[in-house]
Amino acid sequence: MTADTALDPQTIATAARLIADRQRLLVLTGAGISAESGIPTFRQAQTGLWARYAPEDLATPEAFAAHPERVWSWYQWRRTLIARGGINAGHRAIAGFEPRFEVTVATQNVDGLHAAAGSTRVAELHGSIWRERCSRCDTTLEVPVAEPADETPGYCAVCGAMSRPDVVWFGERLPAQAVETADAALARAEAVIVVGTSNRVYPAAALVDAAVASSAPVIEINPEATPVSGTVDCRLAATASTALPAIANALDGASAGRYDQ
Ligand code: APR
Repeated sequence: MTADTALDPQTIATAARLIADRQRLLVLTGAGISAESGIPTFRQAQTGLWARYAPEDLATPEAFAAHPERVWSWYQWRRTLIARGGINAGHRAIAGFEPRFEVTVATQNVDGLHAAAGSTRVAELHGSIWRERCSRCDTTLEVPVAEPADETPGYCAVCGAMSRPDVVWFGERLPAQAVETADAALARAEAVIVVGTSNRVYPAAALVDAAVASSAPVIEINPEATPVSGTVDCRLAATASTALPAIANALDGASAGRYDQ
């Protein structure tokens, strides 16, 4: 059954009912959940200086090898957007599920906003923009969540080679630990919420396909349809920051206003 609608009370009630009596919840997120923090999604046209580039032209080992300063500037720009935007009601609602559910968040985002909102079990499938890795000896360094002072690349304190953002670029393998955490959570999940992803980029999208093929009910939250929209149990054609608090409030029955709307 697929309810294809936005925030009508009936669909919210259906979504809440699908998860209310479950214990283990897997939340699969993509760039859309951070869109309302002012962070452009990958399929949105980039703005300003970056308008002439597609992420696919910047988030690759080849781009970094050919134009390291340009790639670094792009990531510094994105760090600034994240530091300025911060968490939104969607991130907070997912973190707020934790007292009630055992929640695992498997995210394609590198912005760190789920952990910043209080989610305690987050698998970062595409790494973190707040971590740097030496391009030669793999030494890693956590960097503070702040607007970068400048755009110059960092250099490894151990071997002196240029650092790179510790994120997964196109064509690179996903971090084994994050994939293992996500796979284990999916195997145990009693319900799955898929929010803010176009479900087009593999292997992360394979998690969504597996969720839909599993016995666990799947709820999709996305203003636009995606390849799985016709196969999920409940679809909310709505934004993350409106649908997730509404589902949370429906779970709690009368306790309206527990989450920012
Ligand atoms: N709430 C929920 N969903 C939203 C919102 C919102 N406010 N705004 C946009 N969306 C949806 C869009 O409709 C789109 O389907 O979020 C999705 C974002 O899709 P993408 O830009 O493709 O981002 P994502 O699915 O995370 O991309 C996957 O591709 O470029 C690589 O590594 C990069 O992690 C990224 C991966």
